[in-house]
Amino acid sequence: MRRKLAAGNWKMNGTQADLAEVTALAARHADAGVDILLCPPATLIAAMTAARGTSAIAVGGQDCHAESSGAHTGDTAAAMLADAGATHVIVGHSERRADYGETSQIVRRKAQAAHAAGLIAVICIGETLQEREAGRTLDVVGGQLSASVPDGTDGTMTVIAYEPVWAIGTGKVPTLDQIAEVHGFLRAQLADRFATGAQTFRLLYGGSVKAGNAADIFGVADVDGALVGGASLTAADFSPIIAALDASR
Ligand code: PGA
Repeated sequence: MRRKLAAGNWKMNGTQADLAEVTALAARHADAGVDILLCPPATLIAAMTAARGTSAIAVGGQDCHAESSGAHTGDTAAAMLADAGATHVIVGHSERRADYGETSQIVRRKAQAAHAAGLIAVICIGETLQEREAGRTLDVVGGQLSASVPDGTDGTMTVIAYEPVWAIGTGKVPTLDQIAEVHGFLRAQLADRFATGAQTFRLLYGGSVKAGNAADIFGVADVDGALVGGASLTAADFSPIIAALDASR
């Protein structure tokens, strides 16, 4: 069975003062039956690793460079994230694809860099509203999946997050049928490519997950957890989502 994962993406939010949220989360979910991951800005990775104490909360980066070192001002190598205490890194988030023109080929190289540094890559894919309205959702996410996920990986080193771009930060959420359709499709695509290993990949849903919709979303087949943005910033918001995931097991 795949262990469920509640992942939080703090995006460009958070300073030392916000680490109290992590301490609170660690206390509330000391014996959670699901994996918990928080991805703060890179400046907070080391401090968050300290703040989570002996709890099982994992800490991850939000991006890494495809190269292992060199003249890339402002960028962070995967091994540097690991050195700061990270065990995971998000790659290919739609905000990076949109803001920095990251293609799926670049995302694949970043995932390979993450793996080389021993980090679990959380690879994000998802269609825009325009693509969905044009009936191209499965084409788009299928193409992103095959180009972004490196060969020779499995669920121990790679997590897939399906995040419809139009659902991120908007309060709009696909119907449960729409989520089921995409997750089922992704699982089938993985099965074609990775044979038996396909069952090991965790498929997260992301985009406006909140306490109020989490239980319904976690009831959908092939949803193994969530990648949560805004509602991961405070323990008060993230904790009920973790609890809903735990209850869905
Ligand atoms: P949201 O963001 O939960 O704020 O919609 C999700 C994400 O971008 O990972």
